[in-house]
This record gives sequence, structure tokens and C-alpha cells, in this order.
Amino acid sequence: MSLCSWLALVTLIPVISSTNPGVEIKLTTKGLEYGRQLGMASIQQELKKINVPDFSGTQRVSPIGDVQYSLSNIQIMNVGLPTSAVALAPGTGVTLSIGNAVISLHGNWRDSGFFDLNVNQLSIASSIAIKSDDTGRPEVSNTDCTATVGSTTVKFHGGASWLYNLFSKFIDEALRNALQKQICTLVVDAISDLNPRLKSLNVVAQVDQYAEVEYSMVSSPTVSKYSIDFNLKGEFYNIGKHQEPPFFPTAFSLPLQDSNMLYIGVSAFTTNSAAFVYNRAGALSLYITDDMIPKGSPIRLNTRTFGAFIPQVAKRFPGLMMKLLLKTVKNPEVTFEPNNVTVKATGTVTAYAIQPNITLTPLFILDLETSVSAKVFVSGTRLAGAVSLNKMVLTLGTSYVGEFQVRSLDSILQMVLKVAVIPKLNAQLAKGYPLPSLGKMELVNTQLQVLKGYMLIGTDAHFTG
Ligand SMILES: *[C@@H]1O[C@H](CO)[C@@H](O)[C@H](O)[C@H]1NC(C)=O
Ligand SMILES: *[C@@H]1O[C@H](CO)[C@@H](O)[C@H](O)[C@H]1NC(C)=O
Repeated sequence: MSLCSWLALVTLIPVISSTNPGVEIKLTTKGLEYGRQLGMASIQQELKKINVPDFSGTQRVSPIGDVQYSLSNIQIMNVGLPTSAVALAPGTGVTLSIGNAVISLHGNWRDSGFFDLNVNQLSIASSIAIKSDDTGRPEVSNTDCTATVGSTTVKFHGGASWLYNLFSKFIDEALRNALQKQICTLVVDAISDLNPRLKSLNVVAQVDQYAEVEYSMVSSPTVSKYSIDFNLKGEFYNIGKHQEPPFFPTAFSLPLQDSNMLYIGVSAFTTNSAAFVYNRAGALSLYITDDMIPKGSPIRLNTRTFGAFIPQVAKRFPGLMMKLLLKTVKNPEVTFEPNNVTVKATGTVTAYAIQPNITLTPLFILDLETSVSAKVFVSGTRLAGAVSLNKMVLTLGTSYVGEFQVRSLDSILQMVLKVAVIPKLNAQLAKGYPLPSLGKMELVNTQLQVLKGYMLIGTDAHFTG
């Protein structure tokens, strides 16, 4: 191999293995605004932790001379954060600005008096970066912070307060420095306090006894003028056995919408990876027995009913009950077209006669092509669905009872699918599949649209804890 073609190959490898997301999430400015509210509550709590150490010394005050002072037991009485704003910083993250903040402090001077300090027009500007940590969970960090105190007013009460008021400017300066130094440290703490919540992202969500779904981020979030976009793996796996399916996610991008806080795009890759997993786990097979057919139905799973269409069955196996085994032979395929979810499945139906000694005697095997339409909806923080039969085509695979007209079994098989198979499938689908979520997050004002290649869920989020 020439060096050139080798290089070409090497540079191709990352392209081939580069992971398109199966699920994309767009956090809009509305979502960011909700984040600001949560963040501000946390910053307010944090700023109440400002700790101003006692300080004492001597200060020359003319014309009196040296005055000894000592300030102690300084406490934060109130933190007011009336205005704040967050903005997207394309390419980097988010900027947070707080203006007109007020901090009120109270302390003792000497042992005989007290003082009140008001810090006014405090402004804080912080830059926050967001990235993926090495487990694929989001992580924020403060990359820049400045705090500026506009003015302070200090007032001494009791004792020789007139004397202290003479050099309040000096004390004011000392307190201002002590505060200014701590504010950014505390803001940084408040921002890192968001991380435990972000790290509660369900990067591996267990679905049932067969499957789990991975929602780790495949790359760091990207920040544009309009949103923060998260690229998640969105892939189902057999529990404990992570085998990749023979297909890949294709790139897709969510439309610009901003009336909800979040937009979650779930691609056909994700649903197809689920089909791959369940098919591989052998979960897509079902024995159908007569007790699954409604009591009132004249059609029974026995050789008498089938004998009406295939006389050999009634003749060779008179008076026996029957059993059908339905199973998929390849991965069902899910396609999303605007307002239309279709699942195509290819399988076989094996019909058995149940002998009195309960051995099963195979009668025939039919090949089955079905297409179902699915309705999908969000239930809690899960994606659920329900299917109905579109189309079914039967052909003869193998017969152990001689020739017969397969078409004559169409209506029996359709009835069996409708009354025994689809309801069982729908009971499973109704349980739903976990969507990506953070901690105790509830989804509200949720809608779902089916677009080409993916489903788009628009939703607001609400944290309850
Ligand atoms: C949905 O799409 C499938 C396959 O593309 C088609 O057979 C079916 O008729 C469509 N259903 C509706 C309601 O448009
Ligand atoms: C069960 O009965 C069938 C039909 O009479 C017979 O062919 C088969 O050998 C029996 N199997 C056993 C295990 O007894």
C-alpha cells in the first residue's frame, strides 16, 4: 500500500467511526432562563456564606490622634439580587451578569456598639463554560468572574460612634476589599454546585430485563446564538452485551424553535437500535394459544377451524388444539416520515397441532410480512407508543400437510394478530422507554411531532428536587 493511500485510509477512519448522535437536545434561551432562576437561588444562598473576619488596628484621625478600633462578629443580614441576566456566548458557553445587588452586614465594634454596612450596586459578571466530562455527562465551570462593589455605606451606632464615623471611609475600604475577594469564590462554588444536578443525567438508563439505553454525550455541547445543543448517543443495548448494530446514526439537525425550554430529537437510529436489541434477545417471539383468543370468537386455534381451510389438517389431526409460534426473522425496521411512524417486520408463523401427550407436531410454516402504524407519545419522562396493523402478507414457507391455499388463512391470521399479538405488543409499548433526564425532572407542556427521520419532542422542564 502506498503511503498516500495509507494516509487516506487513516484519515478516513475517524470519519467512519465518528459518532453521529442518535438523540439531540436543544436547550433554548427559555430553558436557559429557567436555569438562571435555579442558579440565582443557589448564588443567593452561597453569598450568604460570606465570612468577614474580625479585624482590628489603629488609625490616625486628625486632630484626635490614634484611635484603636476592633470590628467583630460581622454577619450577613441580607443579600438582594434584583437583576440578573444570562446570555449565550456562541462557541464558549454562557455569560451571567448580576447588577444592582445589595449586601447588608451587621457587626460589633469594640464591645460597646454595633455597625451596619450596606454594599450597594454590586455587580458580578461570570463566564461559564459547558463541556462533556469523561463519562459523557455535562459539566459547567466558571472561566472568568469579576465582582465590583459600587458603593458602601457604614453607620456606627452606640458609644463613641461619632468617632468611628470619622474614619468610616477607611473601614468601608477594608470591608469592601474583604467582600470583593470572596464574592467570586462563592459564585464559582455556586456554579460548581450545579454539577451534581447535571451529572444525574441518565447516561445508562435501564429499560427492562433485556435492554438499556445509553444517553451519554458523544461530544461536548455546542453553543450558538440561539441554543445549546447536546449530542447524545441514544442507543439501545442488550444489558451487559454491547454489540453494535449493522447500521449507523445519520446526521440530523433540529429545526429552530424556541417556544419550549427543550427540544429532544429521537432519531430512527435509536428506535431501530431498540428493534435490533429486542430481536437479538429473542424477545420478539410469541406463542399464541387458544386462550388468547376472545371467548366469543367462532374462530378457535384448533384443527377443526383450520381444517375448514386445509382439509388435510382436520383429517390427519382430528380434534386437536393448535398453537402458533410467531417470531421475527430479522430486525424490524422503523421509519419516520412526517406525521407517520411505520414499523415493518418480517417473521414466520409456525403452526403446531398439540398432541394429547402435549408434543407439538408442526403443520406448516408461513412467512409473514407486516407493516404497522405507530402512534408515539410522551408519558411522564418516557416515550411510549401504540401500534395498529396496516398490512399483512402471508406466503407459504414449508408445509408438512401438503399443498393448500395460503390466502385462505389471511383472515384467521389477521384476526390473531389483531386480538392476540398487537394488544400484547401495545401493553409493552405503553410502559414506555426512558427519555434522557436529569434527577427529579418533570416534563410539562410537552408535544411530539414526527418529522422525516426523527421524532421531535418540545417540552418545558420542572425540577421538583
Ligand atoms: C405511512 O407510511 C407508510 C409507508 O411509507 C404508508 O404505507 C402508510 O400509508 C402511511 N400512512 C399514512 C397514514 O399516511
Ligand atoms: C406423542 O404422541 C405422538 C402422536 O401420537 C407420537 O408420535 C409421539 O411419539 C408421542 N411422543 C411421546 C414423547 O410420547
